[in-house]
Amino acid sequence: MGNRFYLTLLFLSGVVLLLFMSFSIYREVAPEWKKYQSEYKTMMVRKSTDDATKKKAEAMKIDLRQIYLGKLNRVDRCTSCHAGVENPNMEGVKPPYKVHSGDYLKNHELNKFGCTVCHYGQGRALTRKEAHGLGHDTHWDYPIVPLQYIQSSCASCHSLESLKTKGGENVAKGEVLFRERGCKGCHKLEGVGGVLGKALDGVGSQPIAYFPMRFVQGERTVYAWMKEHFDDPRNIVPASEMKAEVTDVEADLLTTYVLSLRAEEMPKKYRKFEGTNAPVVGDANGETLYKMYCIACHTTGKDSVYDEVFKRTIPAIMNPSFLKAADDKFLKKVLDEGRAGTQMTAWKQSAAGLTDKEVNKIIEYLAKDRPAQRPEPFGIDKYKGNVTHGEDLFAIRCVSCHGNKGQGGVGLNLRNPIIQKEADPEFIAITIRDGREGTHMAAFGKSGVGLENQDIADLVAYVRTLSKKK
Ligand code: HEC
Ligand code: HEC
Ligand code: HEC
Ligand code: HEC
Ligand code: HEC
Ligand code: HEC
Repeated sequence: MGNRFYLTLLFLSGVVLLLFMSFSIYREVAPEWKKYQSEYKTMMVRKSTDDATKKKAEAMKIDLRQIYLGKLNRVDRCTSCHAGVENPNMEGVKPPYKVHSGDYLKNHELNKFGCTVCHYGQGRALTRKEAHGLGHDTHWDYPIVPLQYIQSSCASCHSLESLKTKGGENVAKGEVLFRERGCKGCHKLEGVGGVLGKALDGVGSQPIAYFPMRFVQGERTVYAWMKEHFDDPRNIVPASEMKAEVTDVEADLLTTYVLSLRAEEMPKKYRKFEGTNAPVVGDANGETLYKMYCIACHTTGKDSVYDEVFKRTIPAIMNPSFLKAADDKFLKKVLDEGRAGTQMTAWKQSAAGLTDKEVNKIIEYLAKDRPAQRPEPFGIDKYKGNVTHGEDLFAIRCVSCHGNKGQGGVGLNLRNPIIQKEADPEFIAITIRDGREGTHMAAFGKSGVGLENQDIADLVAYVRTLSKKK
C-alpha cells in the first residue's frame, strides 16, 4: 500500500517535471515575437485574395527582423512583432499586426529610421514588455511614448516652424502655450528666463529616476509625471511654487512640447531642419515679452493678489495709482534687480538674460496706461525724518501687513535693496500718503487715514533702516 503511494507520487512528479521542461523548451523555440509573427503570417494567408499573394504569404519565413541604425548606435527589432507595418493589407487589424497609419513610414524610410526615433522604447528587446519599456522592472528610461505625446519626437529632427504644417502641430502648439502662459517667468530655456524653477533645457530626456513618482496616479513614467504635474503641480510635488493654469488639453500639448526638449542632438544625416524653433525672439514687442516672462505671476497686472503658495502679495504693476508714482527709472531698477528675498527675479542680462532693449519694451508696455497727471509732490527733502517716531508708527500702522521686520506678507517686502537704496524717498513718501487704489495699501495721508506729512516723513526714515533689523 505504502509503496504504491510513493510510486504514484514519483510518477506524478515526473509528469510535472516533463511538462515544465517541455514548456521551457517551447518558450525557447517559440519566443513571444515568433507567436506574433506566425499569427501575422496566418492573417496574411487568410487575407490574400489571389493565389500568387497566398503563395507568397505561405512562403514567408518566421525570422528575427532588425533594423541597424549605425549612426545612432541602435538596433530596432520592433518589426519582429510589428511585422505588418508596411503591408497595406493590414488595414483595420490591431497592433502589432496593423499597417502603420499615416505617411510616417513613407516619409521616413523604415531601413534608415527604424521605430525608436519616433516612439522610443528599447529597440533590441524581444518581449513586448521589455521592448515597450513599460513597468519599473524593465529599468528602461525611455519607454514607448503614449501616442498623444508622440509629436514630441518630431522636434528632434524638424523645426517647430515647419512642423506646424508637417504633422507636428501639437508640439508647435505646446511651444506657443509655453511662451504665452509665462513658463519662462520661472524657467530658463537657452539661457533666458526666471530662476524660481530650474532651466528646462534637456528636461525631456531626463531619466525617470530624477522624478519623484510617489504621487503619480497613472503609469509610473516621465510622461505621466509631466501631464499630472501640469494638471496640478502640488499633487505631484507637495509645496511646489510652480504655477500652471491650464486645461486638460493644454496640459497634453505642454507635455508634448516639454518632452521635446531633449539633451542629445540627432546626427545631421537624420535631420531635416527648415525654418526656426523660436519665431518671436528678436523682434518681440512689449506685450509678447510681458506674456513670456511676467504673466504667470502678475496675470493682467491689474490686480493685487495675496498668493497662498508664495505667502506674499503679487502687486498690481499696471495699477494707475502705482504707475503714477513709479517712473520709468524706478521700474527699470526693479526689473533689473528684482526683489531679493521674494519670488521676483532679477531680469537683467547677467541674471535672467533679458537685454536692456527688452526690459525697456516691457516697461513701455507696463506704462502704457500711466495717468498723464503727475502726483502732487511731497517734498520729502523739506522734512527731517524721526526714525524712532517712525518705528512707533510702523508698529501700529504697518506691521500687520508688512511684517515686524518689513519682510512682507500681505504687504510687500520693504527690506530689499530697491526700497532701501534705489527708490527715491519721494516715491516712498507719495506711496504712503496716497496708497494704491484697489489694493490693501491704503492712503495714510490727509485724504485717507489722516497722518500728517511729518509722520509720513518719519515713516520713510524708519522704512529706510529696515534692512538693518535682524
Ligand atoms: C514581442 C512583441 C513586440 C515587440 C518586440 C514590440 N511590440 Fe509594440 N506592440 C506589441 C503588441 C502585442 C501590441 C498591442 C498591445 C499593446 O498595446 O501593448 C503593441 C503595441 C504597440 C504600440 C501601440 C500602443 C498604443 O498605445 O496603441 C506601439 C506604438 C508600439 N507597440 C511600438 C513598439 C515599438 C516602437 C517597438 C520597438 C521598440 C515595439 N513596439 C516592439 C508587441 C510588440
Ligand atoms: C516618423 C515617426 C514614426 C516612425 C519612424 C514610426 N512611427 Fe509609429 N507612429 C507614429 C505616429 C505619429 C503615430 C500616431 C499615428 C496617429 O495617431 O495618426 C504612430 C502610431 C503607431 C502605432 C499605433 C497604431 C497606428 O498605426 O496608429 C504603432 C503600433 C506604431 N506606430 C508602430 C511603429 C513601428 C513598429 C515603427 C517602426 C517600424 C514605427 N511605428 C515607426 C510615428 C512614427
Ligand atoms: C530622426 C529624425 C526624424 C524624426 C524623429 C522625424 N523626422 Fe520627419 N523627416 C526626417 C528626415 C531626415 C526627412 C527627409 C526624408 C529623408 O531624408 O528620408 C523627413 C521627412 C519628413 C516629411 C516629408 C518631407 C517634408 O519635409 O515635408 C514629413 C511630413 C515629416 N518628416 C514629418 C515628421 C513628423 C510629423 C514626425 C514626428 C511624428 C517626424 N517627421 C519625425 C527626420 C525625422
Ligand atoms: C511661478 C513659477 C513657475 C511657473 C510660472 C512655472 N513653473 Fe515649472 N516649476 C517651478 C518650480 C518651483 C518647479 C520645481 C518644483 C516642482 O517640480 O513642481 C517647477 C518644475 C517644473 C518642471 C519639472 C522640472 C524637473 O526637472 O523636475 C517642469 C517640466 C516645468 N516646471 C515646466 C513648466 C512649464 C511648461 C510651465 C508653463 C506652463 C511652468 N513650468 C511654469 C516654477 C514654475
Ligand atoms: C515668479 C513670480 C513673478 C514673476 C514671474 C514676476 N514677478 Fe514681479 N513680483 C513678484 C512678487 C512676488 C513681487 C512682490 C515682491 C515684494 O514683496 O517685494 C513682485 C514685484 C514686482 C514689481 C514691484 C511692484 C511694486 O509695487 O513696487 C514690479 C514692477 C514687477 N514685479 C514687475 C515684473 C515684471 C515686469 C515681470 C516680468 C518681466 C515680473 N515682475 C515677473 C513676482 C513675480
Ligand atoms: C492692509 C495691509 C497694508 C497695510 C496696513 C500697509 N500696507 Fe503698504 N502695501 C500693502 C500692499 C498690498 C502693497 C502692494 C499693493 C500693490 O501694488 O499691489 C503695499 C505697498 C507698499 C509700499 C510700496 C512698496 C513697493 O515696493 O513699491 C510701501 C512703501 C508701503 N506699502 C508702505 C507701507 C507703510 C509705511 C505702511 C504703514 C503706514 C503700510 N504700507 C501699511 C499692504 C499694506
